[in-house]
Amino acid sequence: MATNPKNLAEIADLEIRDGLNGLTPARIITLYRRAPLLRPVSDPKRVWEMFEKASLVLTAWHEGELVGIARVMTDGVLFSYLCDLAVEPDVQRLGVGKTLISAVEERCKGTELLLRDSDISSGYYAYLGFNSVENAWIKKIR
Ligand SMILES: CC(C)(COP(=O)(O)OP(=O)(O)OC[C@H]1O[C@@H](n2cnc3c(N)ncnc32)[C@H](O)[C@@H]1OP(=O)(O)O)[C@@H](O)C(=O)NCCC(=O)NCCS
Repeated sequence: MATNPKNLAEIADLEIRDGLNGLTPARIITLYRRAPLLRPVSDPKRVWEMFEKASLVLTAWHEGELVGIARVMTDGVLFSYLCDLAVEPDVQRLGVGKTLISAVEERCKGTELLLRDSDISSGYYAYLGFNSVENAWIKKIR
């Protein structure tokens, strides 16, 4: 990154964009590698398809640099699935993730927002008011 903001004031000019504007497979992959977020980063075509087919993509930009991504599948009525949330490590814990989730909530009003967490992020979602559920099931379709 061009700068390394140390506090919230320095990231106050955060820009939130809707859609693929400014995104490239390389930018997404760099962010996923750095965050880190486990995704098929060795296959740029597949990564781009994940974004083209998503119903909602929100990105956070600071001084022209991509610093955060939220990707959502939603029917806009009942359910929304937050597929990915990743924030550039230089600006983690400065409110970028929280801002992206607020923007998702704004656009998915009235739906239930579901997600899978990871060992490092479960405390985060509890902190943001998510409840963990027992009755979730997952199957990998081959
Ligand atoms: C998890 C992640 C998206 C959080 O984004 P972020 O921008 O760093 O977090 P925020 O600054 O929005 O945090 C908001 C609040 O949650 C707290 N928080 C952040 N990460 C936390 C964690 N892992 N556990 C508990 N609280 C956490 C922050 O301290 C902050 O508190 P405050 O509002 O009182 O200051 C980011 O750290 C990340 O990209 N991690 C790697 C990838 C990942 O795990 N993604 C999620 C996969 S499901």
